[in-house]
Amino acid sequence: MRIVPYAAVLIVSTSLAFAQQPAHGPAAGSTEVANASTEQRVQDLLSKMTLEEKATMLSGSSWMDSAPISRLGIPAIRMADGPMGIRNWTGPSAVTNAEGTRTTINSTAFPAGIAIAASWDPELAREEGKALGAEVAAIGRDMILGPTVNIQRAPLWGRNFEGFGEDPYLTGRLGVSYIEGVQSQGVIATVKHFVANNEEFERHRIDVAVDDRALHEIYYPAFKAAIQEANVWSVMSAYNKVNGVYCAENPLLKSTLEKAWNFQGFIVSDWGSTYSTAATVNAGMSIEMPGGPPMQTWLLRPETKKSGNDGGYLTPEKVLPLVKSGAIPEANLDDNVRRILRILVESGLIDHPHTRTGSIDTPAQRAVARKGAEEGLILLKNSGNLLPLQAGSLHTIAVIGPNAAVDRSGGGGSSLVHSSLLVAPLDAIKEHAGSIDVRYALGVAMPGEDPTQDTPEARKTLRDAAVAAAKSSDVALVFVGYSSKFETEGKDRETMDLPDGQDELIQAVAAANSKTIVVFNAGDPVTLTRWIDQVPAVVDAFYGGEEAGHAIASALFGDINPSGKLPFTFIKALKDSPSYGNYPGENLHVNYAEGIYVGYRYFDKHVTVAPLYPFGYGLSYTSFEYSGLKLPKTYNGHNPLEASVTVRNSGSRQGAEIVQLYIADPHASVDRPVKELKGFRRVVLAPGESKTVTFALDSQALSFYSTAQKQWIAEPGRFDVLIGASSRDIRQKASFELTK
Ligand code: GLC
Repeated sequence: MRIVPYAAVLIVSTSLAFAQQPAHGPAAGSTEVANASTEQRVQDLLSKMTLEEKATMLSGSSWMDSAPISRLGIPAIRMADGPMGIRNWTGPSAVTNAEGTRTTINSTAFPAGIAIAASWDPELAREEGKALGAEVAAIGRDMILGPTVNIQRAPLWGRNFEGFGEDPYLTGRLGVSYIEGVQSQGVIATVKHFVANNEEFERHRIDVAVDDRALHEIYYPAFKAAIQEANVWSVMSAYNKVNGVYCAENPLLKSTLEKAWNFQGFIVSDWGSTYSTAATVNAGMSIEMPGGPPMQTWLLRPETKKSGNDGGYLTPEKVLPLVKSGAIPEANLDDNVRRILRILVESGLIDHPHTRTGSIDTPAQRAVARKGAEEGLILLKNSGNLLPLQAGSLHTIAVIGPNAAVDRSGGGGSSLVHSSLLVAPLDAIKEHAGSIDVRYALGVAMPGEDPTQDTPEARKTLRDAAVAAAKSSDVALVFVGYSSKFETEGKDRETMDLPDGQDELIQAVAAANSKTIVVFNAGDPVTLTRWIDQVPAVVDAFYGGEEAGHAIASALFGDINPSGKLPFTFIKALKDSPSYGNYPGENLHVNYAEGIYVGYRYFDKHVTVAPLYPFGYGLSYTSFEYSGLKLPKTYNGHNPLEASVTVRNSGSRQGAEIVQLYIADPHASVDRPVKELKGFRRVVLAPGESKTVTFALDSQALSFYSTAQKQWIAEPGRFDVLIGASSRDIRQKASFELTK
């Protein structure tokens, strides 16, 4: 079989439109740089800079600011965490105002990345990015440290809630839209953390061994799409090593980001993740963070110290002697500085530094948070159609659990946002319940949140009260899961199990009331198997931001119809995970031995290991029928191949279905996954309504990465197109022949 190099069949479309919208950088592989006038301005500024000024720009001036060169009107870039809202709580990095100091602001707490992923709605991601970008500009800052696009490889990774799940295509689509939303506001988005940052365990010291094909097919795509499609203005390098070299000084920065993908923006380090001067500058690092006096405080952190990082590697004191000695060619210094200047010009920041222009936490931004929370929750189980609750026929509702009276808006660490407007499920249910009697019982405290409740006696009292409430109510709602202390940056979960005491609470309540509904907060799989058969209805609410309570109540009472689908495989037990045995690694070495077989790619090959719920799965209060898949019999690799399918709402109420398109290449010359997600569309349908959904496929969608030929290859021969309501609920299938 002839192998056709993918590049030979790709239609290269270059878009050189530059306007207020994010300037779409030059197409991949083209040599033009961004907007010509930008380059002239950049070159003009660079030529005026002294060597000292250029060196000054390579290291931050504070926790969250780059270094300004006032003499030339070059402003500091004022950064802020995090991916789902402006960080406004304790922690030195929680800088939230133009003056660079920390003042408490009530920024909008948007849903976590995993909830946006569960929505499978790129337009929602764009809206969130836009709303967040507007808030950053409104407080006079210039750059948001998000999105997080690291793949959910390990079920216990503390930051799974921040990312968009296990699939590179889904992650890429959402990342691109989010970045375009942020940058449409003239705010710099920072796609992070490049690359293979998939566990918190010893993140400053671990060395990830990952093969080239897994990098290209699993861990790179979202970064590549961010650069080549969204024209992302900055990339953050990760803490860990990849194949023996720290990310902050890894040759991948130049070889992959800058040369292969033609990245025009600048690279910023993760905080306290640089370990050398010449190697780091020569690798392409533009801004080491944090900088200035705070760097020293930062370095006192235990995990930073343990890694031997004594910080401040890119300060002028260290850089200048190495430029003079030639260890750092001045051309490298110039290129790193040029990239910062280019984005300052292209983003408009050099002409219009942000002032407190807009406003934050507006009803409009709050509405975006609510839409995200509503679209980002998943109905996992609904036996006997217990849900939606029929308010008219209910007299008493028991609302139980440690996550009932608290809005678990997000996971912990740099992405956490404390809004003053958090809505807990209990409050929203009370608002909704009208004359229904709502009986609240804590049931069990979140471990560590209330030590007085952690004694055996207190726990018995709490549980007895919860059982009594359940016994005397028409239905029992149990709200469990984690808090931002249990699922957080800086540490991984120790187990898939729910926090101590929650399984027993659920079992006791389910024994007391056959109409028990469990709603849980987590960013990844949790152990459900101990009680899933005793509980008729289960909702995965992830971390829904400040409006989570309203979204959950609306879904339970049927004001909205849940439409979320799993962005990761929901496994039964940790030992089923593809990374099991290769997580968290041995002696600080983590071997990604599963290669490309992450998530559903693995389970489709190892059919004896059945997940509890498959990737792409989620229920609805209505039902959908698929018909009429149409696509040409042959495809010559030119012009997109169009596949269309009709979806009908065969139920009695409006709903949104996420139609998924998978590709199979059964005759590939290399081992390939049984199927790979290459298209999806969220379609809203009234009862009885039909819509035809069209997908456009190109050769890239059919390709695998050949490590032998170091390029993407689409091999001629038969391909299958699978249309599914989940990765394991394939409703339509058709084949075509790729002729060349
Ligand atoms: C943190 C995180 C990164 C964050 C940065 C600034 O350690 O890894 O995501 O943006 O440092 O707080």
